[in-house]
Amino acid sequence: MSIYQDQIIDHYKYPRNFISLKNPTLEYGDANPVCGDEIHLYIQLDNQEKVERIGFQGKGCAISMASASLLTELLEEMTISEMKKLTNEDIKEMLGISLTPVRLKCAILCLKVLEGAIHKFEGGEVGKSV
Ligand code: FES
Repeated sequence: MSIYQDQIIDHYKYPRNFISLKNPTLEYGDANPVCGDEIHLYIQLDNQEKVERIGFQGKGCAISMASASLLTELLEEMTISEMKKLTNEDIKEMLGISLTPVRLKCAILCLKVLEGAIHKFEGGEVGKSV
């Protein structure tokens, strides 16, 4: 088993930052329409718009949960503008395994939620948060 697969299993079994925050600056939740799996993200920013605290909640497959857990670690201390530059490629690189198109949807659910959270924070229209 590769080190990346070990890492995914570890983050699935022991998700990091698996908490909800009270009064976060950014908050949003979304689901994968194919399976209904959900991720909810909470981010508290400091006065420099940098991540101060982060948490997520959700239920889903190993890839979606591990990806969300890894993403919360990646986002620690990032600014909003750095977060906005993240792409599907960054998520693929973070996971380090090859993903089928279906598995890619699982992996990027957390990024979709992050994008929704930022969009909502900036006053944009978003779908109803789950
Ligand atoms: Fe639902 Fe992976 S099977 S997000």
